[in-house]
Amino acid sequence: MKTGMALMLALLTALAFPCGVLAEAAPAQEAPSKILIAYFTWADNTVVEDAGAAIDSALEHYDNMGDANSGVDATSSASVLAPGNTAVMAGHIHDLVGGDLFSIQVEEPYSSVYDECLNRASDELADNARPALRTHVENMEQYDIVFLGMPNWWYSCPMAVLTFVEEYDFSGKTVVPFVAHGTGGISGSVRDMRASLPEDCTVLDPIGVYRPDIATCQPVIEEWLRSLELPIAIRTAAE
Ligand SMILES: Cc1cc2nc3c(=O)[nH]c(=O)nc-3n(C[C@H](O)[C@H](O)[C@H](O)COP(=O)(O)O)c2cc1C
Repeated sequence: MKTGMALMLALLTALAFPCGVLAEAAPAQEAPSKILIAYFTWADNTVVEDAGAAIDSALEHYDNMGDANSGVDATSSASVLAPGNTAVMAGHIHDLVGGDLFSIQVEEPYSSVYDECLNRASDELADNARPALRTHVENMEQYDIVFLGMPNWWYSCPMAVLTFVEEYDFSGKTVVPFVAHGTGGISGSVRDMRASLPEDCTVLDPIGVYRPDIATCQPVIEEWLRSLELPIAIRTAAE
């Protein structure tokens, strides 16, 4: 009798769970992270009428401060012509992890003469200004991971980067900063950008690339990306 009951139970169970899977639900498939790669670069925020003069004005400034960038291509080093240095970094990140690229651009372009650009940037920093933007991200809410690139401007970030981060709700998002710089390194750029983000936004370790190293920075960027252990696939450079 007992054996009959047990058989009956086994039969009922088999009918209820035909694949032999008991009530445990299959683990929910997590949606893959959606990636945005946003960056500010001088070249996308200026209008160059005389390329030679613009490049010379940058190189003269580097010379005056003892940063001659010997052996580096003058045009890319000056970074006033596209692609700017931060844009080059953004391009490498995009090649390695995919996602959507976005260039942060101000309404009023900066001068392509280095010292004039420096002066305006200095005034904006002193005024804690928020330059108006002419480019905007559609549906920022769809992105979980935002790579955010900027040049070091006056040991901080361009104030337009603050306009950008304050325009959207970064709560719950992961921000991954990357910085192009001169002799000053990352300085306060990431710190100042972080101050405009909400507490519950995670900010990962940034990478900084010095101007003369931009042309060869792809392997360093790949190494840095892998060290972050983000839940995303990273292609190898050869792919
Ligand atoms: C307005 C301005 C201010 C800058 N201030 C600094 C600075 O304080 N420290 C530094 O290391 N580099 C500074 N730089 C150099 C840039 O960070 C560097 O050239 C960077 O590679 C430029 O990136 P981009 O081509 O994406 O604009 C400044 C450049 C500009 C135009």
